[in-house]
Amino acid sequence: MRTQADESHPDLRAALDHLLAAGGKRVRPTLGLLVGNMLDAPLEKLVTLGAAVELLHTATLVHDDLIDGALLRRGMPTLNARWSPPATVLTGDFLFARAAKLAAETDHLPLMKLFSETLAVIVNGELTQMFTSRGLISRDNYYKRIYAKTASLFEMTARAAAMVSRSDEAGIESMRVFGYEIGMAFQIVDDILDFNGEQSAVGKPLGSDLLNGLVTLPAIYYAEADPNDIDVQSLPNGGWTNNEHMTRLVDNIRASDAPRKAMHEAESHVERALTALTAMPACVEREALENLARYIVDRKV
Ligand code: IPE
Ligand code: IPE
Ligand code: MG
Ligand code: MG
Repeated sequence: MRTQADESHPDLRAALDHLLAAGGKRVRPTLGLLVGNMLDAPLEKLVTLGAAVELLHTATLVHDDLIDGALLRRGMPTLNARWSPPATVLTGDFLFARAAKLAAETDHLPLMKLFSETLAVIVNGELTQMFTSRGLISRDNYYKRIYAKTASLFEMTARAAAMVSRSDEAGIESMRVFGYEIGMAFQIVDDILDFNGEQSAVGKPLGSDLLNGLVTLPAIYYAEADPNDIDVQSLPNGGWTNNEHMTRLVDNIRASDAPRKAMHEAESHVERALTALTAMPACVEREALENLARYIVDRKV
């Protein structure tokens, strides 16, 4: 990933160094490497795939933080906290371009198609989220949204890692399901952490989804249990502009059992992921994937 900024403008190189130094969990490349190793895929293709996917993820975060006006990421100032919006947009674009180049370096045409289709799904999802009424309390809308913005990339990573191996169609499908299920769980947990996370651990602004008018699963559970709540009622008609309502609603959701119910749902996704894994031969990578699936719901970061 680091070599992708070589021979570019010094400021761009500095920005990429800053982004990569902050680390991040690198969950997606871990997923790709484990699935691919389990299925005896060539290591150099897996490394290239992992770098491509992580750079794509990083690019979406650069743009996401600019869109959200978020100033903190991985415990460090975001690019948009230090740079102008144009410079931030262009840095994101540069990362997308490098991610696409890496995907092409796998020399695997179906993988490249899948990669660009997934990017289209992510961007289309973000746009849909922007244009559908904020504050909308709808499960169906929520699941579609989290698939598009997060689960699609996990799904693609696991599937692509299986595709570059000698696995048969059934094996590829099992790995697609595994990626999909842990991806759905991952975003549900991210949405729970926005309410109940420890600021110093999470390293990004908390309590921000509702303040941005974004209704996530904990809020949906809360609204279902208490539809007459005055703050919930203020939601669908522009309530997020009323910070007082939203701050109180965030506090009430935190204190309620809505986050626990949402966690239960994330755990069901992990269970389904573990079921998909049973189709695979028992080996150290399979065991590590089981642990990865469990980590998704245990994590504090
Ligand atoms: C953050 O992803 C954005 C979501 C899809 C929730 P991660 O939680 O994987 O971010 P890093 O890469 O570890 O910082
Ligand atoms: C992930 O969703 C954003 C993208 C995949 C672009 P969030 O908006 O929940 O991510 P965080 O919480 O800012 O990391
Ligand atoms: Mg965000
Ligand atoms: Mg979030």
